[in-house]
Amino acid sequence: MSYKVRCWECGREIENPLLDACPSCNGNLTVEMDLSHLKGTSPRDLRSRPLGVWRYQDLLPIGSGQVTLQEGGTPLYDCDRLADEYGVRQLMVKFEGANPTGSFKDRGMTVGVSRAVELGCKVVGCASTGNTSASLAAYAAKAGLKCVVLLPSGKVALGKLAQAMFFGAKVITVNGNFDDALRVVRELSHSGDLYMLNSVNPFRPEGQKTLCYEIVDQMDFQVPDRIIYPVGNAANIWAGYKALKEWEELGWIDKMPIFTGVQAGGSAPLVNSFAHGQEDFRPVKDPETVATAIRIGNPASGKKALKAVYDTGGVMTAVSDREIIEAQFLFGRKEGVGVEPASAASLAGLKRLLDEGKVSRRERVVCVCTGHVLKDPDTVMANCGQLIKTEATAEAVRQAIKN
Ligand code: F0G
Repeated sequence: MSYKVRCWECGREIENPLLDACPSCNGNLTVEMDLSHLKGTSPRDLRSRPLGVWRYQDLLPIGSGQVTLQEGGTPLYDCDRLADEYGVRQLMVKFEGANPTGSFKDRGMTVGVSRAVELGCKVVGCASTGNTSASLAAYAAKAGLKCVVLLPSGKVALGKLAQAMFFGAKVITVNGNFDDALRVVRELSHSGDLYMLNSVNPFRPEGQKTLCYEIVDQMDFQVPDRIIYPVGNAANIWAGYKALKEWEELGWIDKMPIFTGVQAGGSAPLVNSFAHGQEDFRPVKDPETVATAIRIGNPASGKKALKAVYDTGGVMTAVSDREIIEAQFLFGRKEGVGVEPASAASLAGLKRLLDEGKVSRRERVVCVCTGHVLKDPDTVMANCGQLIKTEATAEAVRQAIKN
């Protein structure tokens, strides 16, 4: 296992392991894996290990000393009832709610916290719309590290907040949104107060690569036509693209899927720039959406996400809060799978793109559903209708059923 950390923008090699951006050009960082030892092998050779993040350890920048909760290995559901409803040939859902803390963040955190331990860091921290903090808190507990999480005030779903507190993190809400919290945590990281495990830490996307490795592995090394992601801070879609680029370069797959990103209409800076064919974007000032996980106006990995989309002939689209909730409930009631609102943005985006004729109905599509429905019980209850209450008699219940 050998690798280099480089600036993704200017290519400069980065020696200092505590940096989160390039000292020359302020660009994003990335891990460049040396995969030459895998040339001439097959991804089938990895199948002696169980499906999950560490099946792919030969493609990850961590050797021994893994901090793991057995993350990954999540279901790839073939959703034929929803496919019929939307009118598309095949719709599969990669259900990331089945991870240990209920979101895809665990893939990044097993690698990121392993890295923190390798570096001898004692305090880890992040800014978060909720899931990153829940995940980091759990992995920090497992590793015996102190954990500090910064959350935007008032807009974090209850399940996520409960998790971060439950696992013993120091939970601090800042007077501002996610973008403000990220700015502050970067400052704390620069001053050495903590080791930052947001996805601008290049080890995080390395773990998140495995989401796409698994999709292709579960499809017996067929590549779907398209993979659709909800996009917030924008590292996850980039990680998937990076993953399959690596496999393409190894000759393990013979085509790339089309990477497609979905943002919520009230926080869609990347959709705006995609509409104008731009490689960079202008931040949105006061992002707002029911999908609080992706309520982000200044996505730190925005340029990388746009690259993933442009390079594979994809699109970025926006959906309304109403479309998100409709997709969330339809999915639950057609397929029996519960996802949080941000996750349902990928499904809502697919529906919209099919209706607009921008996705062909002949495609085989994978939607990534990033987090579990129990993350945000308040939004469910607000959209579910009334609870029925009766006396404890069979007759009263019979009446209630009839009504
Ligand atoms: N879906 C969910 C459920 C998320 O929690 C996030 C991001 C995303 C999608 C978007 O992924 O940022 O890589 O584009 N949540 C972060 C957090 C921001 O703090 O938990 P992305």
